[in-house]
Amino acid sequence: MSLQGKHILLGISGSIAAYKSATLTRLLIKKGAEVQIVITQAGKEFITPVTLSALSGRPVISQFFASDDGTWHSHVDLGLWADAMIVAPATASTIGKMANGIADNMLVTTYLSMKAAVFVAPAMDLDMYKHISTQRNIERLKSDGVRIIDPTEGELASHLEGKGRMEEPENIVAILEQFFASGNDLEKKKIMITAGPTYERIDPVRFIGNFSSGKMGFALAEESASRGAEVTLITGPTALSTSHPNIVRVDVESAIEMHAAALKIFPLMDVAILSAAVADYRPEQVADEKIKRSGKENLTLSLVSNPDIAASLGEIKKPEQLTIGFALETSNEEINAIKKIENKHFDYIVLNSLNDQGAGFAHDTNKVTILSRDGKKRSFPLKSKREVAKDIIDTALKPSTIDNEWLYL
Ligand code: CTP
Repeated sequence: MSLQGKHILLGISGSIAAYKSATLTRLLIKKGAEVQIVITQAGKEFITPVTLSALSGRPVISQFFASDDGTWHSHVDLGLWADAMIVAPATASTIGKMANGIADNMLVTTYLSMKAAVFVAPAMDLDMYKHISTQRNIERLKSDGVRIIDPTEGELASHLEGKGRMEEPENIVAILEQFFASGNDLEKKKIMITAGPTYERIDPVRFIGNFSSGKMGFALAEESASRGAEVTLITGPTALSTSHPNIVRVDVESAIEMHAAALKIFPLMDVAILSAAVADYRPEQVADEKIKRSGKENLTLSLVSNPDIAASLGEIKKPEQLTIGFALETSNEEINAIKKIENKHFDYIVLNSLNDQGAGFAHDTNKVTILSRDGKKRSFPLKSKREVAKDIIDTALKPSTIDNEWLYL
C-alpha cells in the first residue's frame, strides 16, 4: 500500500508527543504523500517549525497571516486541498475546541473548513484522557464522523503508567493507508435513505408525531457519502443538517409525502435504507381551522392507516436492488424482526431494542443486531450512531469483509 500523491494535512498541538510528528511526517513523505503541517502556538513549544518544514518540504503554517509578508493562509483552500486531515498529537484542549467549534487558532479553523476525512490521535496524561469532559468531547467528535485513533497504554510524560500515549507513527500511517485502500469503496453506488419522524396533521397548528430525531438516518447518509456514494436523504421534520456535498436532501412532512418521494426515487437507486419512524396512522380529516376546545370534555380523532413505504418498495424491488429496514421492538424481538424481513422483502433488518440503555430515539448512541434474509445475525455493543452506520453499511454492502463474523440463527 502507498500514499502516493495523497494530500495529508497534519495538525500538531502542544504535547510532548509532538516529537513523534517528525517521524510521522518523514514516514508520510516516504510513502509518497504531500504533507502540509498546521501547528498550534503551543505545538511550537515542543517542536520547531524549522524541523518540520525541512521534513515536509513546505512552510509550516501556524498563523492566519504570515507575519513577515502578510500572506493570508486560507483555511478554506487547505480544507479543499487535503485528502485527509490527521491531528497528531491531539491534546485535550484541541479535542475540546474541535468538538465545540472554538476556532481561535489556525488548526481548529482548518478543521472547520475540512471537506476530507479527519483522524485524531489523542496524547495526554491518563487522568486527562479519562476525564469525563475529554471523553464527552471524544464521543462528540466520533458522532461528528471524526475517526479517533485510540491512544495506547504505557509510560507517560508524567512517569505514570496508563492509557494516553499517542499511537506510534508507523501505526498511524498504516491506518491512513488502510483508509485510502478502502476509502471510496461506495463510489457510484446510489443510496436512498429515509430518516426522521413523520408529522400527521390534525389541524393547522397540531400534528401526531413521534420522538425520532433522525440521527441514525443522517449518520447513515454521512457515512455513505464519505465513502463515495451518491446519497438521497428523504427526511421528515428534524433539526439536523447535512454537510457532505454527495447528499441530496429531500424534506417531507407526512408519511404520504415520504411515500411519494420514495417511490419516485427508488427505481434509480441501488440500495434503500429505511430508517424513518413513519407514523402508521394519520387523522382521517384534517381540520381547516384550529380545533376549538369550546367546552368539549372528550375529543375523538378518527385515524386511517398510512401507506407502508418499505412494503411498497418491496413490491417493486428488482433483484439487483438491496433494501435494509429497521425494527424497534419491545418483545419477541428477533421473531418480530424476522417477520418484517418477510413482509417487507428486506435483505437485512437492523433491530434495536428499547430495553437497551442508550439505544433508540434521540440518543447519540445505538446498540443493534443486524439480521439477514438468509438467517444470519451479527450483534454489536453500544456505539456512536456514526459507528453503527459504518457497521450497517459494511454488513450489507461489504459482506466479504465480515464473512466469519456471522452467527447462524
Ligand atoms: N416503515 C415504512 N413505512 C411505514 C412503516 C414502517 O417504511 N409506514 C419501515 C420503517 O422505516 C422500518 C420498518 O418499516 O424500516 C419497520 O417499521 P415498524 O414501524 O417497526 O413496522 P410496522 O410494520 O409498523 O410494525 P409494527 O406493528 O411493529 O409497528
